[in-house]
Amino acid sequence: MCGIVGIIGKTDVAPFLIDGLKRLEYRGYDSAGIATLDGGKIERRRAEGKIVNLEATVQKRPIHGVTGIGHTRWATHGVPNEANAHPHSDGRVALVHNGIIENFQELRRELTATGHTFESETDTEVVVHLISAYLATGLAPKDATFAALQRLKGAFALAILFNGHDGLIIGARKGSPLAVGYGEGEMFLGSDALALAPLTRRIAYLEDGDFAVLSADGVQIFDSLGAPVARDIHITQLSGAMIGKGAYRHFMLKEIYEQATVIGDTLNSHFNPVERTLTLPPMPFDLAKIDRVTLVACGTSYYAAMVAKYWIEGVARVPVDLDIASEFRYRQAPVQKGGLAVFISQSGETADTLAALRFCRDAGMHTVAVVNVPESTMAREASASLPTLAGPEIGVASTKAFTTQLVVLATLAIVLGKTRGVLDRDAEATLSKALTEVPSYATEVLKSDDAIRAIAQDLLDAQDAFYIGRGTAFPIALEGALKLKEISYIHAEGFAAGEMKHGPIAMIDETVPVIVVAPPDALFEKTASNVQEVIARGGRVVFISDAEGVSHFRDKAFATIVMPSVAPFVAPILYAIPVQLLAYHIASLKGTDVDQPRNLAKSVTVE
Ligand code: G6P
Repeated sequence: MCGIVGIIGKTDVAPFLIDGLKRLEYRGYDSAGIATLDGGKIERRRAEGKIVNLEATVQKRPIHGVTGIGHTRWATHGVPNEANAHPHSDGRVALVHNGIIENFQELRRELTATGHTFESETDTEVVVHLISAYLATGLAPKDATFAALQRLKGAFALAILFNGHDGLIIGARKGSPLAVGYGEGEMFLGSDALALAPLTRRIAYLEDGDFAVLSADGVQIFDSLGAPVARDIHITQLSGAMIGKGAYRHFMLKEIYEQATVIGDTLNSHFNPVERTLTLPPMPFDLAKIDRVTLVACGTSYYAAMVAKYWIEGVARVPVDLDIASEFRYRQAPVQKGGLAVFISQSGETADTLAALRFCRDAGMHTVAVVNVPESTMAREASASLPTLAGPEIGVASTKAFTTQLVVLATLAIVLGKTRGVLDRDAEATLSKALTEVPSYATEVLKSDDAIRAIAQDLLDAQDAFYIGRGTAFPIALEGALKLKEISYIHAEGFAAGEMKHGPIAMIDETVPVIVVAPPDALFEKTASNVQEVIARGGRVVFISDAEGVSHFRDKAFATIVMPSVAPFVAPILYAIPVQLLAYHIASLKGTDVDQPRNLAKSVTVE
């Protein structure tokens, strides 16, 4: 997946394209490029690596023109080098693409046979040649694009320039998001409203199958059949200001530290101060009738869903089906018409989760999106949306979005339990009170930062690491392992503590750290026994629990992290923080690119 931007402006657009790409860099940073029409002629600049490299290239060799397109790439087909960087062009057409053209090999064979030559290994380049081939038959840009779109299989958002057609950009969308921005005598295209935020707040979101013909005066939008359509213009609330790191070395650390505040903000949006209870906004369906819940997500958001399964089943006594989005959508799961499916996503754009949402919606389920980007596709397409108020999350490894997702999902569990009559007032009050105490405990947990950094220093040489936990600490163990591997590149696995004896324990020796997430809950003793088994085999245990819990292992563990004593219900929210900090410090001490780890991107809009 990638970020794309297109501008028909009044002055040279190159600086605005680069600024837009910086806002989209969370979508990928393998290479970047821009193309403009300089006196009607296509000009390109491309560079491998991050956008700063493109910026340097453009500084050395400036590029002019008021019509242009730009791209930041997360490589799918072809290594991340300059030849594979977008925009792709044959001199007649230049275009940028987010998505995957699934039938590119077949099209490439066909085009090669008719004399087209290819410069890159990408799937995208076939679209350039396909449109060119239709132009060569005498079709105008709009008709040539429409004809080419009929031939494409897969997912795409495209922005296209045509040699000799200054002031014209054509955009098209299927599967991948694309927004049209309206200016005064200027028009814009972007993968999201954030890219366009400093340029305009007036945004229309293209629907699947749409294509749009932009000129300086406006846009004509057509649906998949080529019929003119109107799409609503929204006024985006997003700010054009670039988010800064403040005094922090990395966005990730800043975002870890913001958790006490944003958890509080998210809770406050659901808290009724008069009744001292947690509430949800009115839903377009009857929560009391919900007798089964499907939870679907990817990555870190999937681990939030996994915690929620324990909560919803335990607190609301409703059975939960839990799935990774990329598996769910293809396994032909029988869905319950009128049932509830909840999709959890920081970005609200993840292709697999979005496809799962559409699948459930089309099958007649009620869909709820728990998203951090309020204007995202999932927020717009679900029957209801429950926002997490984490604010923009820039670090690719999710932290504050995760803990605020947990707050929303805990609220959902409580409200569901109450609405279904399985949670009495006292139990509801106890759980709600525990949740409202999380922000102040989060501040306390953050005070362990220095101690965790010291432990990180001792774990730098690890080749492998295990994380274990039981109950809601199990998904936190999985999340801890994911955090460590994605930013430090140390191989890490999370396991249910009770599963260690069924295989993973064979891996234990004195070189393998085992991070134990062990809040003092009903399962503490059982986890403690599993830890004894690890210690008996020489494992280097880092034991995370409250003062009483760690006292059992003070002499035996390699290190301990002391947590405040909190209600087991909210423990997963708070125990997420030390595992985030541990991964952060290990990666930061190793000197990896913490905010933009290799091979990853923040928003994954391809399957
Ligand atoms: C990517 C990110 C992860 C994130 C996952 C799901 O892999 O690197 O941090 O958890 O996508 O993203 P979503 O926006 O749907 O939560």
